[in-house]
Amino acid sequence: MAAEHVEHERAEHDDHPAYPVGLRLSGRRVVVIGGGQVAQRRLPALIAAGADIVLVSPSATPSVEAMADAGEITWNKRPYEDGDLAGTWYALVASSDADANNAASAEAERTRTWCVRSDDADAATAWTPATGRSEGVTVAVLTADVQGRDPRHTAAIRDAVVEGLRDGTLVARHHRTRTPGVALVGGGPGDPDLITVRGRRLLAEADVVIADRLGPRDLLDELPPHVEVIDAAKIPYGRYMAQEAINNALIEHAKAGKAVVRLKGGDPFVFGRGMEEAQALAEAGIPCTVVPGISSSISVPGAAGIPVTHRGVAHEFTVVSGHVAPDDERSLVDWPALARLRGTLVVLMGVDKIGAIAQTLIAHGKAAETPVALVQEGTTAAQRRVDATLATVAETARAADVRPPAVIVIGDVVAVGTK
Ligand SMILES: C[S@@+](CC[C@H](N)C(=O)[O-])C[C@H]1O[C@@H](n2cnc3c(N)ncnc32)[C@H](O)[C@@H]1O
Repeated sequence: MAAEHVEHERAEHDDHPAYPVGLRLSGRRVVVIGGGQVAQRRLPALIAAGADIVLVSPSATPSVEAMADAGEITWNKRPYEDGDLAGTWYALVASSDADANNAASAEAERTRTWCVRSDDADAATAWTPATGRSEGVTVAVLTADVQGRDPRHTAAIRDAVVEGLRDGTLVARHHRTRTPGVALVGGGPGDPDLITVRGRRLLAEADVVIADRLGPRDLLDELPPHVEVIDAAKIPYGRYMAQEAINNALIEHAKAGKAVVRLKGGDPFVFGRGMEEAQALAEAGIPCTVVPGISSSISVPGAAGIPVTHRGVAHEFTVVSGHVAPDDERSLVDWPALARLRGTLVVLMGVDKIGAIAQTLIAHGKAAETPVALVQEGTTAAQRRVDATLATVAETARAADVRPPAVIVIGDVVAVGTK
């Protein structure tokens, strides 16, 4: 009779949509029945919510066991028993024992405990939405009713929203928490897919973007028309140095209340003058957020099939600037010391001076036959790689008309991918 009553109630409720709510489970008892794959998937979010979790199950997957070992959950290593849900706010019933699931579900109904069931959504009093997070917001997608349940579709909607927010194709401007001031964003080596998720989001929220020649220029085309895009190389500098003029432009736009992104190639702090800009902003009292980027020094060799380290070949790599010749008094690089290193040498901004650099390295003991690769416009459609040795690189680079931007890799790792 009681069972009939429950069936009747359920049929009545079936037509109504589920009511979405966010449970604040911190410090509250949550019971999970069953330690299999479902528990393994659901437990991390319950742990993150701070719930006081009790797992009731004779067995558990190694991952769930690790959560118990780490003290994140309490594991009662036995089958479900009536009374396990006493004092419980929320239950997840997901064991492989149908009788135990039914009994636990009945106890939940009796004790007015919201209960999710992995084996019978229709019999459950709560459903788990497909969830994802993006910048402090939880996106939760729930099927409206049992008839319309299509978990793959809800997951696909969740993915579309979260991905869109992350990559900036779905723009939801922050109002109260919009990042103020200037964001120094490392744009990566050039391929627009190689900017970070945070960088892309900030770009999507910008009013003004001041961009370098290097970096993901393609992303600028995607910005809405109201966004002012300024080419850093074209900022007139009159009585200032070019860098000072850029700093001033950043400060001016930020002071006008604009969300400003300073988009730089690679990482802002690898030969990127990022700290000079951060310091100028700090002096002007403008908040500055730094977003790291993928540096060309590692990614461009990688894109051309060259690992900067390789087991048994190189245990170190050194990144140097080659923008001034080794005998130039402004050079801060200890080239004789570099010639003695066994590892990989990565030279940025070195195309013009590669002849002098190679000569200096050989003069200080580096083998003339050390392999060298020049990778021009790495990660872009125009990427090309030119191989040589220290002895031949100046002539080879000239003959092949290698032009900046190029990363030059010197060392035995150059030959690793080609073997
Ligand atoms: C001023 S430095 C900036 C480096 C940048 N901050 C980084 O982390 O990649 C410019 C030099 O980086 C290298 N570079 C940057 N992007 C490159 C790319 N896509 N292909 C080859 N070299 C690149 C070149 O050596 C170029 O002359």
